[in-house]
Amino acid sequence: MAIERTLSIIKPDGLKKHVIGKIISRFEEKGLTPVAIRLQQLSQKEAEGFYAVHSARGFFKDLVAFMISGPVVLMVLEGENAVLANRDLMGATDPKKAEKGTIRADFADSIDANTVHGSDSLENAKNEIAYFFRETETQKY
Ligand code: PPS
Repeated sequence: MAIERTLSIIKPDGLKKHVIGKIISRFEEKGLTPVAIRLQQLSQKEAEGFYAVHSARGFFKDLVAFMISGPVVLMVLEGENAVLANRDLMGATDPKKAEKGTIRADFADSIDANTVHGSDSLENAKNEIAYFFRETETQKY
């Protein structure tokens, strides 16, 4: 199996609910190791740039406003098939449709405030990681 890296973001609702630790535990229990972590208040420009691919979507403004409504936790997760493993742990975008036991089913209130982001492909993971982190900010242990 391939060792991959993926970008994970714990969104402002996750911080307001004080579930950072619970979410990171889920990653670690499934062999996804945080190799870089940063707590950050995103600027509007940073959030718009990160979600630029969705800029034509009706929800774009709301998504950006939500992502800058408070600080987020930015993380690089490393492990076997990290991209898919993280998506499985997250559950469906809409928490109402997310499988029981997934992060979104357990912690998220709505599709607008769905607690976590995870890269959806290896190529996007590389770009998303590079958007927020330099290679020197990641650690091996
Ligand atoms: S798609 O069609 O697969 O690209 O869309 P999806 O991955 O489901 O969603 C892309 C990101 O937009 C967020 N999203 C929304 N935000 C606010 N309101 C509504 N209605 C909405 N629908 C989708 C969704 O959470 C995705 O954000 P990330 O951070 O990537 O999870």
